[in-house]
Amino acid sequence: MDNLTPKNIVEELDKYIIGQNKAKKAVAIALRNRWRRQRLSDELRDEVLPKNILMIGPTGVGKTEIARRLSRLAQAPFIKVEASKFTEVGYVGRDVESMIRDLTGLALSMVKTEHMEKVQEKAGALAEEKILNILLPPQKSQRKGSLTGAEEPIDEERQDDNETREKLRGQLKEGKLDNRYIDLEVREKVMPFGVVSNIGMDELESNLKEMLGNFLPEKAKRKKVRVSEALLIIRQEEAGKLIDMDKVVKEAIERTEQNGIIFIDEIDKIVSRGSSHGPDVSREGVQRDLLPIVEGSTVSTKHGPVRTDHILFIAAGAFSISKPSDLIPELQGRFPIRAELGPLGKDEFLKILKEPKNALIKQYIALIETEGVTIKFTEDSINEIASVAATVNEKTENIGARRLHTILEKVLEDISFDAPDMKDRELAVSAKYVKEKLGDIIKDEDLSRYIL
Ligand SMILES: Nc1ncnc2c1ncn2[C@@H]1O[C@H](COP(=O)(O)OP(=O)(O)OP(=O)(O)O)[C@@H](O)[C@H]1O
Ligand SMILES: [Mg+2]
Repeated sequence: MDNLTPKNIVEELDKYIIGQNKAKKAVAIALRNRWRRQRLSDELRDEVLPKNILMIGPTGVGKTEIARRLSRLAQAPFIKVEASKFTEVGYVGRDVESMIRDLTGLALSMVKTEHMEKVQEKAGALAEEKILNILLPPQKSQRKGSLTGAEEPIDEERQDDNETREKLRGQLKEGKLDNRYIDLEVREKVMPFGVVSNIGMDELESNLKEMLGNFLPEKAKRKKVRVSEALLIIRQEEAGKLIDMDKVVKEAIERTEQNGIIFIDEIDKIVSRGSSHGPDVSREGVQRDLLPIVEGSTVSTKHGPVRTDHILFIAAGAFSISKPSDLIPELQGRFPIRAELGPLGKDEFLKILKEPKNALIKQYIALIETEGVTIKFTEDSINEIASVAATVNEKTENIGARRLHTILEKVLEDISFDAPDMKDRELAVSAKYVKEKLGDIIKDEDLSRYIL
């Protein structure tokens, strides 16, 4: 975290997102400010509130992508929610507070993983002993000893046992026993029907599930597993026993409160448009519900109360029909930093196709490569694709970089289909090929609307 300076953050984001520098800068500063805040005196730290960000830009220009990449960098509890989720018809008001609960849950598993990481070595040693016990039950020599009562043979046998055990240990360490099967008691929680499959359950349901989970007998099943797998299973089990859950919970709540970031996507979808009837009421309702959370309040979660004052909120929306000023004024005020993302044109498309680490062209090449076919895109073919994307965006709907997906898919349709049976193991995609595949579609505007 220490070397995540705003400049470095922007550089990291640059690896995946083309342009949009203003937005990158804004989120980079916001993230760095969390780090700065941690370094203040207790007194001052409480005073510094995060400056929430509103990202505004047309569809498909990288808003969500920036948030996604930022989350990987942040190493902070980070969740993304769709504001519209809280207004779905027939499902009015999945309560807005649930996002804080989700964030806390996430922080909990983060912290738990870290704590488990720390006791891995100890747990590993314990697991090793347990496996050795299974491979070579220790009671054997003791029982025999108590039966015979004779001194000397016991020692000898113990000696033997110990030697065998150490030999086994050596083999275990070297991985020589990895493929041997042993019987292992695996505890499995049997989930009640229906409950697990419920998506979008809120606090009540998840509590219910947990309660039920506790009542349901943990089914202990004997299973044959490889030694290598058994080692992992037992190690996890032991690690779970070694960590102090109370400490984990406390740390998780603290991390949520101090470092949590919530990305609220599609915030423009909860803007009401003038009228105060129908679904708009619920939209404005969602905005009102959001207010206290963004402003700072206490939300009760099953792990304990969580304060939201210092959680950073980043909201994003296309605001194509509405404007940020259509949000209720109180909420507008809670997002003081505005970052605008511009529309993307041919030049950006060209870069998006080629440059990012996960660039689309790279993805397709890799996908087709799995069939043993190598495709090469000539420079002018990529140029052609970018230019078609820009044109279609202009003529029909501007869906930003998403257009590249639809176009590439179309260009490569035949190759994708035929690749497994192709005789040629190498293939060049030229501008001519692109034109061939797209020519008719582009000329006909109606056709473009349907296909691209
Ligand atoms: N500037 C960019 N650089 C690289 N890839 C981009 C860029 N903008 C968009 N993309 C790609 O386009 C797709 C859509 O982008 P994203 O999900 O960020 O759109 P969005 O701005 O959130 O749009 P919406 O308002 O519809 O949610 C993603 O696959 C993303 O990788
Ligand atoms: Mg988005």
